[in-house]
Amino acid sequence: MRLTKKILSFGIGAVLSSFCVTNAEAAKVGISMPNDHLQLRWFSSDSVYLKDELEKLGHEVVITYAGDNDILTQTRQVENLVDTCDFLVIVPIDSKSLNYSLDKAYKKKIHVISYDRMLRDTKSVSYYVGTDSKQIGSTMAKYVVDKLRLMDRNQPANIEIFAGDINDENTIDIDYGVNSVLRPFFEIGKLNILSHESALKQNQTVKWSKQYARERMQRLAKEQGYAPKGKKLDAVIAFNDATARGVIDSLRKLGYKEGYYPVITGQDCNRLSVSLIENDVQSMSIFKDERKMAIETARIIDTLSKKKMVTVNHPEGINNGFKNVPSQLIDVVVVTKDNVKPVLYDSGYITEENAE
Ligand code: BGC
Repeated sequence: MRLTKKILSFGIGAVLSSFCVTNAEAAKVGISMPNDHLQLRWFSSDSVYLKDELEKLGHEVVITYAGDNDILTQTRQVENLVDTCDFLVIVPIDSKSLNYSLDKAYKKKIHVISYDRMLRDTKSVSYYVGTDSKQIGSTMAKYVVDKLRLMDRNQPANIEIFAGDINDENTIDIDYGVNSVLRPFFEIGKLNILSHESALKQNQTVKWSKQYARERMQRLAKEQGYAPKGKKLDAVIAFNDATARGVIDSLRKLGYKEGYYPVITGQDCNRLSVSLIENDVQSMSIFKDERKMAIETARIIDTLSKKKMVTVNHPEGINNGFKNVPSQLIDVVVVTKDNVKPVLYDSGYITEENAE
């Protein structure tokens, strides 16, 4: 069952393809995913939905996972996919490190779809399917501004930021969105980062790793004295659910209890994090429906394989440093305890079988 709320909008723009495929109908699609972690989205959601949608349309699918976000492994895997496939769907670990293989794909007239993460500084990308990460950042920050009542409170609030991996273009964009909303509050002293770790080089989470976030939170708590009865930590902007879970693990060890955690953001509506939201531990998560992303990606590939005209809702595209990449953007939903049921359960995103 699909979401009751209409979260996709289709524009009328059309982008005509100048590429061709050797086998016009059934194509071989190579999908390159950044990691193979069971509990993270790429392995358990995106690759499953993509395979399903593409196979339903009669295409053959080959999926590679780059171990633990290993850039060299992904480079080798993409090189191999370029040699053997008609289309590529890539979630880059490092938005710039695949450009050699991508040039090869371009010469072979293979269409590349940049999926969820933008491939930077390359001409070899035909479409982007994903979300607007700047908007995700500003949405997280607005949520915090609202929850902490920053507009009318007199006491300054304390916040710490747990960004994503700095090599991921989404991290740069989320950071931009967060700061565009929070900067005025920092400037007038209503919001403080006591650690002063406000630059991405300081607050990034290498490989988006939960463990990395856990250790950093542990260190910050020690250095700043954050504790249930110590210095108050009012909010944590965590760029995704895995980093939020790392932060939560550390805070729990310090004695934080359900209902008394700081405001904590997240992204992905990971099953484990949804139960933390239901239990008043994590405050919210940004939901990007991977089912919609898979359907849109499969539609674009299928249309190209039939040499027909592709329509996307942002034909003017998103600039990747080299060109404007025509984009199909998926709307996002803020999930809190109040709307978990309609958005995630009633839509069939979380079912009894996949709840664990
Ligand atoms: C994605 C997030 C994901 C993160 C870690 C980001 O690029 O947008 O949804 O949680 O990577 O895999």
